[in-house]
This record gives sequence, C-alpha cells and structure tokens, in this order.
Amino acid sequence: MSKKNNLIKLTIITIFSIPFFYIINFVTETKDAVANINNKQIVEVFKTPSCGCCNGYVLFLEKENFKVKQTDMRSLHTIKQKYTIPLEMQSCHTTILDKYFIEGHVPLEAINKLLKERPDIDGIALPGMPIGTPGMPGDKDEPYVIYQLVDGKFSVFMTI
Ligand code: CU
Ligand code: CU
Repeated sequence: MSKKNNLIKLTIITIFSIPFFYIINFVTETKDAVANINNKQIVEVFKTPSCGCCNGYVLFLEKENFKVKQTDMRSLHTIKQKYTIPLEMQSCHTTILDKYFIEGHVPLEAINKLLKERPDIDGIALPGMPIGTPGMPGDKDEPYVIYQLVDGKFSVFMTI
C-alpha cells in the first residue's frame, strides 16, 4: 500500500476515534460522581428532635448511601453561629460533610458538585424549606438556588 493510502487510513481512524474518546470520558466522569456516594461517607446532621422534614432529609441521605449520625438539639443557634450561617441562608437543619456544611434541604446534585469540585468555601446552603426538595413534600414549582458561603458571605453555587 502507498504512503498516501496509509495516511488516509490513519486520518479516517483518528476522526472516528474522537467521539469514542468523548463517550469514554463521559462514562468515567459519571462513575466518579457516583463513587463518592457509594463510599458510605459519614455525615452528621444537626436537627431539632420534633422536626419531620429534618427526619425526611436524614432518610434521603441514608437512601443515597451516606452513613448518617444524627444529633438532636433544642436550638441550633450555636451550630449556625459556629459555621457562620447568616439568618437569610438558614434552614431547619445543618449537615456536616468533611470540612463543609450543607445547610437545609440541599438536593444530591449540589452535594455531588461539592464533593467533585471541592471548592475552597465553608459550605453550601439552600435557605428556607422549598417545596419538593429532599425531605420536603410536594412537587418542585420553582428553581432551587443553592448558595456557597465563605465567612458568612454568599454567592450562587448552582441553580437546579
Ligand atoms: Cu425542613
Ligand atoms: Cu430539617
């Protein structure tokens, strides 16, 4: 076979390989995200004993394979203070995962993003108790804006 034919062959092989590279890359990335969850990561949830939706969030975390330590407190004021979570970012419970706090009914997508990117922040928060979030009843009827916090200052982390 001539050199020219070989070159054409090589070019064709290269062009057809590119999509496969992207597919393999995509599959590996997806696996990485799931690997964090299957690790049985230990998290601690600080909550008030009588809160039903806090309990719902604990069940959600357990379903997603986290090993959950629950700590019931009459008031979470000291926790919000310790992690510098301002009033407008607060929810009914605070989850601690590694060096991060996860405030409120934060969906799995945001936790995975946090675990994958490991940004230099204190934690993330979904303020209030939006309808349809993990642990909350109802259907999602508005976008969930999750914030990232550094020293009590917040900016948008992601919108789901
Ligand atoms: Cu709640
Ligand atoms: Cu709660």
